[in-house]
Amino acid sequence: MKILHNISQLVVSQSNPKEALRGANLGNLEVITNATMLFDKTVVFIGTDDEVRKYILDNDILVTDTINANDKCVIPGFVDSHTHIVFGGDRANEFGQRLKGATYQEIAVAGGGIAHTVKKTRLATFDELYQNASKLLENAIRYGTTTIEIKSGYGLNFEGEIKQLEVIKELQKNYPLEIVSTFMGAHDFPAEFKSNPDKYVDLICNEMLPYVAENKLAEYCDAFIDEGYFTIAQTEKIFETALQYGFKLKLHADELVNKAATEFACRIGTISVDHLLMISEHGIDSLSSSATIGTLLPATAYFIRMPYAPARQLIESNCAIAIASDCNPGSSFTESMQTVLSLSAMNMRMTAEECLNAATMNAAFALDRQNKSGSITVGKRADFLILDSSNYLDLFYHFGINHVAQTWIAGNMYSSYDA
Ligand code: NIG
Ligand code: FE
Repeated sequence: MKILHNISQLVVSQSNPKEALRGANLGNLEVITNATMLFDKTVVFIGTDDEVRKYILDNDILVTDTINANDKCVIPGFVDSHTHIVFGGDRANEFGQRLKGATYQEIAVAGGGIAHTVKKTRLATFDELYQNASKLLENAIRYGTTTIEIKSGYGLNFEGEIKQLEVIKELQKNYPLEIVSTFMGAHDFPAEFKSNPDKYVDLICNEMLPYVAENKLAEYCDAFIDEGYFTIAQTEKIFETALQYGFKLKLHADELVNKAATEFACRIGTISVDHLLMISEHGIDSLSSSATIGTLLPATAYFIRMPYAPARQLIESNCAIAIASDCNPGSSFTESMQTVLSLSAMNMRMTAEECLNAATMNAAFALDRQNKSGSITVGKRADFLILDSSNYLDLFYHFGINHVAQTWIAGNMYSSYDA
């Protein structure tokens, strides 16, 4: 058993909420000052130094390591519930074009965008994809991510999608953080099916989903409803098949154009509905009366220069919201959840407390991991970050640097840096 003592602020998030946090409750962040924590793979006890010492004596516990937090702040590891970090090539040149004024959609229509990454991902070997993703994953961990969701969606044919999912599986084997795998064959239509998109929907339903399910390559199925991408009818067909195979659902919705996709997600009961840059009043009403989590991806709005999702209105309308990175080579190339916190606070006007809960507890709900992660709570996995600061507000106040001195996953320190 290990002891971490001399913690200036132990940020719990919220211990064991029955449901995702909504409305004013999103801003309730539990913080214990001058705390000591006892843990092995999971959190065993939290209290004052005296309380922990008494617990150790009473329960005859052998302490193997005593770690001094040096009066620094400890927060839950971030749960990044939406990423696309397995891909080939890069889009730096396209980004250069965008800096000269081209829009994300113009580039996509001209054959760049997702199509470019699909070409490169199909050409890449398993090892190339693995090495590229490992590097991003290690950065994510250094910046505080301890649970991550990763999607396929750059193969868009049987071999390519399975290759990506196998890479995710290999990452799951080799890294200590929890990786949640999502099949997203419905990310875009591949060039060879552009003139017959329904045939591609059939391929997803009849060949990809059955294979992915049988080989347990993904827990979630996701799709992209937008102008020029999947329609609600096509997505409904895919999701009905996915549900029959036991997948949980996520949806990319109302990102570029409003297609009433949020309303559809709430009706079909996806665990999360993501993006929401263009969500309508009606979409907000649907979300607020459903259990679906709205996952906001502010780094995407920033990176493609779109208006941000209306976070304040969503919170005030009692929607449950999470925040995530959307890390991908085209619309949001960052694996830093600290950047996401900063953008959420400054550009979506969320409070520090709302941001922290949205990036931990509510993000765990968005992955159906609320009983295992998302807060520093007795019985949950000991996933936490020791910051190089004694005040969690420094995450927002002192921006653009890495505040994570140590990332701990399941009770073990992953990497250490000089604070
Ligand atoms: O979540 N919206 C669709 N998919 C990604 C972008 C993928 C890309 O540009 O490569 C997203 O923003
Ligand atoms: Fe995405």
